[in-house]
Amino acid sequence: MKRNVIETPFTFGRIASDNNFANRESEILKLVTNFISGINTVLISPRRWGKSSLVKKSAENVSKKNKDIRFVFIDLYNIRNEEEFYKIFSREVLRSSTKKTDELLANAKKFMGKLIPQLTFSTDPNSEINISFDWETVKKEPDDILDLPENISKQKNIKFIICIDEFQNISAFDDALSIQKKLRSHWQKHKLTSYCLYGSKRHMLMDVFTSPSMPFYKFGDIIFLQKIEKKHLEKFIIKRFKDTKKNISKSAADLVVDIAECHPYYVQQLAQLSWLRTKKSCNEEIVKIAHESLILQLDFLFQSISDDLSSTQLNFLKAVIIGIEQLSSKQTLDEFNLGTSANVLRIKKSLENKEIIDLFGNTITILDPMYKYWLKNYYFKI
Ligand SMILES: Nc1ncnc2c1ncn2[C@@H]1O[C@H](COP(=O)(O)OP(=O)(O)OP(=O)(O)O)[C@@H](O)[C@H]1O
Ligand SMILES: [Mg+2]
Repeated sequence: MKRNVIETPFTFGRIASDNNFANRESEILKLVTNFISGINTVLISPRRWGKSSLVKKSAENVSKKNKDIRFVFIDLYNIRNEEEFYKIFSREVLRSSTKKTDELLANAKKFMGKLIPQLTFSTDPNSEINISFDWETVKKEPDDILDLPENISKQKNIKFIICIDEFQNISAFDDALSIQKKLRSHWQKHKLTSYCLYGSKRHMLMDVFTSPSMPFYKFGDIIFLQKIEKKHLEKFIIKRFKDTKKNISKSAADLVVDIAECHPYYVQQLAQLSWLRTKKSCNEEIVKIAHESLILQLDFLFQSISDDLSSTQLNFLKAVIIGIEQLSSKQTLDEFNLGTSANVLRIKKSLENKEIIDLFGNTITILDPMYKYWLKNYYFKI
């Protein structure tokens, strides 16, 4: 049935693709090169800066031209332990190895035979596959699972690229370190399979990938994804308005990007709200109204985020918003009731863990530009 809905030109909260994907040309080139050369990649950025979209887009580019390269996408978002991880890992590798059910079953038997996996298929058109095996056996010897892509590759003359999203979740598994050791010891031997591991929580991932004492030390090329450059976002907004027979002035597009501080998700959301309010031509006035409506829309969420913070954490955010640089100086500690300088360190760590702030050298950034605006204007009323 044809839906009688006008497609809006912006997207947020979903993977950005096709017309909804702005630039990132150099990042795509880098990922594509790594994928084709079999270099392992680690991609890190704060939430919603576009990691998943970038990996998908780069994978699409590679797949189009290289039929022998198979991508496997695994999202650790809902995976809580090692057993679940192995199930999803083996299921997704098997699924990417072939489109034919009988071949998939044959692959499972051939390459995982010792583990006696049981596969069940649902009858729906997408044919959901579930895999189960005897956990006690797998726990002792997960080799056949961890080497599955490499073993299939050797036989079938294909290469796998395993993309694991929300990789920071692995640190929350029981026995996280021993799992990491197992994964690394197998994966580093693979020649036909490479890995792209990505996620947020820079601090945690840095620990996993850059501490010499950690199993994944020097596992691959580490990329810190940046936001998208202003000029590209501006061009993108102007084009998307044009595509839908509306227009936006350069200064209004500029304002959208400035308010959203080049944060890809918010650029799209604010552009969308501005577009919805525009009959024909969008100007700065419309963008400002759209911005206020977005803040109101987020009010409840921001209120509950703030309710979860201690009063010293909030005092700290206030000092950051005001622009105080010497956060541990005696004067700031007194003025903002921050306790001791050791306490300031703890506050920083915990706000970083909650992904509210980002610490880079001595620079502290409040990651969510709308939350920052809300705190300043609606909460602290500075
Ligand atoms: N290249 C892009 N062009 C335009 N918008 C983008 C681009 N990449 C991401 N976005 C916007 O940002 C949103 C978040 O993108 P994505 O889910 O890829 O980010 P992420 O870093 O994987 O987020 P999370 O950390 O929450 O998983 C998208 O829904 C889209 O609105
Ligand atoms: Mg993502």
